[in-house]
Formats: sequence, structure tokens, C-alpha cells
Amino acid sequence: MTATHHPFTAGVHAGYAPEGPLRPLTAPVHHSAAFAFASHAEAAAKFALKAPGFTYSRTGNPTVAILEQRIAALEGGSSAVATASGQAAVALALLALLQGPRHLVASARLYGGTVDLLTDSFNDFGVTVTFVEPTDADAWRAAIRPDTAAFVLESVTNPQVQVVELEPIAAVAHAAGIPVVVDNTLATPFAYRPLQHGADVVVHSLTKGLGGHGAALGGAVVAGSFDFSDPQRWPQIAAPRDRYRGDSLLSRYGEHAYAMLVRSKFLHDLGPALPAGSAATLLQGIETLHVRAGHVAASVVALADALEGHPAVARVHHVSRPDHPQHALAAQDYPRGTGCILGVELADAALVAPVVDALQLIALAANIGDARTLVAHPASMTHCRLSEAQLASAGISQALLRLSVGLEDPSDLLADLRQALDAAWLGSGARLESGARPGSSAAPASQLASQPAPASQPAPA
Ligand SMILES: Cc1ncc(COP(=O)(O)O)c(C=O)c1O
Repeated sequence: MTATHHPFTAGVHAGYAPEGPLRPLTAPVHHSAAFAFASHAEAAAKFALKAPGFTYSRTGNPTVAILEQRIAALEGGSSAVATASGQAAVALALLALLQGPRHLVASARLYGGTVDLLTDSFNDFGVTVTFVEPTDADAWRAAIRPDTAAFVLESVTNPQVQVVELEPIAAVAHAAGIPVVVDNTLATPFAYRPLQHGADVVVHSLTKGLGGHGAALGGAVVAGSFDFSDPQRWPQIAAPRDRYRGDSLLSRYGEHAYAMLVRSKFLHDLGPALPAGSAATLLQGIETLHVRAGHVAASVVALADALEGHPAVARVHHVSRPDHPQHALAAQDYPRGTGCILGVELADAALVAPVVDALQLIALAANIGDARTLVAHPASMTHCRLSEAQLASAGISQALLRLSVGLEDPSDLLADLRQALDAAWLGSGARLESGARPGSSAAPASQLASQPAPASQPAPA
């Protein structure tokens, strides 16, 4: 495995080559909390971070290290630190930049758990956040303050599948000496590599598309090449620290200094370490990322096309639709698609429960990127702690369903969706006829029989 290999090859090989007397082809799972030292000198050097190697699995484990190298290779980063969940990855990535009560500028369309982290837990420690419309580079510029520590955004948002042109936002940030942190969970490096578009740090929930099977939680922080050399602005990285025996992390670890701060301070002190068994499960998922993601991308487009015509559907949110505001940008920056998410705005919020309850193959669950297709109602599930105003600025209505498209044949998915939409629509039409569903402009059930079937069945990918 060399740096010249294709990313798809890196997904299968990076970070591991068979070795030792048995030469196992798949990465061995090192289920061990601690690692023995051959001598006192070796132990002392490793604990002082003066020699590489493993001491205790909270800060590093050989199986987890293979996963870290593989993700760094996929994203084109200098190093990566794996964490117990995506939530932990977001938290650690930002804590390493905050150093006290500082300010963040963040996209108004972040995952609900990240909004909770920023507006509640971080706020408890004096961190303040200005939320901006992510596609508006001028809004990012206007929100900058002297104490702004980072820009935070998602490459592909959930559930409206919005994408941003990252370069202008990164240019605004870099002109003010601010690093850009991009959550690339939905896109995965199969579709988009934010470090190549100006990001400085990439975070992932590996639980989603990268792991791909919904079988293990995990996260990762991937470091790019931001210049942290100003000790006034970045004392935690560029100034001498007692914790590192009077050295600065920058002087010791160079381009790996930020990642070492994440690992040796925040992973060590807060403890959200990824178990070796989870790392092995996630590694197996990553090996098939490019095959899975290609199939999913084709299925998502086919379903978006087919659902758009159904009378119970007011609108499909997906960049493949010509009326999506980022249709042209996505065609340019995301030629391999935007991942597994499809937003389906129903004609009326009253249809949500009947549709969801009528689905037979598609499960109601709060995850994405699973091998199975899942549906969620963001307003009452993943984003339920957001205020009405936050929901509105995130573009999440009460009628919006999120589909996370899996690996099934898309014709079976469409059949399940159509029978659920038809049943809910007929039910709502019956109520409409008796006057119990005011305010809907949708056609009554009596007209459904004459409605043409939604566009043709999607072809198998
Ligand atoms: C974009 C995004 N980032 C981070 C997370 C948090 O990841 P995890 O659930 O692995 O903690 C999620 C979870 O849904 C997510 O969708």
C-alpha cells in the first residue's frame, strides 16, 4: 500500500499489512486494556510520550490504530484519532480548539446532537455560538469575533441534503486565522474529501456510512495541515505546557500536534475510547465502502425520482432534483452522490404517523448509513430538543421524514414506500372528506384511484 494507490484501495489496505508468524489477512483484534513493557526505561519513555507505542487502550490500541491510519488515508489527513462515537469526535475536535470560553461560528443546519453539544453542554462552560446559514459566505464573515476559535459545518446536511461550496467559506476563515471543522459523516470520503476543499479538521461518526452496517458506534477526528504556530492564539499547541514537561506539542510533534492534543489530553482525560472489537467491525465495513456507497447513491436518486410524483408527498429534498438549490453545485462537487439520505416532505404533518406505521420493510429507527433502509421523523426524534425557531432555521418541518437508504433492491423499497403512502393517503382522504383534515390542499382519497402510479420502478443499481 503506497500513497499513490487509489482511495478505494486504501479503504481495503491502508494501515495494515499481514505480519508476524501467522500473517492474518484481516486485522487482528487486540482485546487488551494494557500493554506490557520490556523494561522500566521503555515504560517511562512511552508514558512521557517520548517513544511511540501502546500503554493503555484509552489512548491507543493496535487495532484502533489500524482504523485511524485507514481513515487518515481515506481523507488525505496527516493523522486521525478514533473515538467511541461520532458525538465524542465532534466534542474532542472542538475542545482541542477552544482553550477556555471562546466563540464558534456554526452552520444552522447541524445534526441535533451537535446543536445540543454547542448550545447546552459547551455553553455551560462559557462557549458561545453564532449560527449562520451555511451557504452564505458573507454570513460566516460577519459572524467572526476576535475570540472565534473555529467554523463548524457539515459537508452534506441532514435531512435536507444541502451541500456547501467549502472553498469560499474556508477562505473567509483562513483570512481571519480560523480553522474550519467539517463533519463529513453523510458524504463519507467516497463522495467528498473536505481537506481537499479547504477544511482543516474532519470529523466522522463512523457509526453511519463508513461503518455501513449499524453494528458499532465509533467516531474519528482527522487532522489536516492548519498553521497553529502562533502561541498567543493557540497556546494549547504552540506554547510550552507543564503537561508536556515544558515542551510545546508543536515542537515535539510538528504536523501531528493537534491530533496529539486530541489524543494525549482530551481522549486521555475524558476517556471516550473506541473498543478494539468496534474498530475491527468498522474496518470490515470500510473495506466495502466504495461498493456499498455506489449502490446506495443510485438507489437514492431512483427513489427521489419515483417519490416526487406521489400525491402524499409535497416535496423530495435531494440534490439530484433539478429544483434543489444546490443541484448544480452538487453535480460539480459530488459526482458520486451525497450519501444515503433523502428528505421526504409529506403533504401534511398528519400523514407522518400513518405512513411510518404502515411501512413493513423499512424500519423506524434513529440511525443512518445502515445496511438496512431506515426512516425517522427528525422533528420528534433526532432533532426533538431544538426549539421551534431552531427547527425552522434548520428547515425541519413537522411533515418531514428522513430516509436513510440501505443496500436492499430499490424496487422493494419503493414498493414498501408506495403501499405506506397510498394507505396513509387513502386514510387521510377519508378524513378529509368528513372534514377532519382542514388546511390541506391535497386531493381527496376518491381521486387517488385515478392518480397515476408514481414514476417507474427504479432499475436495480
Ligand atoms: C452528522 C452527524 N455527526 C455526528 C453524529 C454523532 O454520531 P454518533 O451517533 O456516532 O455519536 C451524528 C449522528 O447521527 C451525525 O448524523
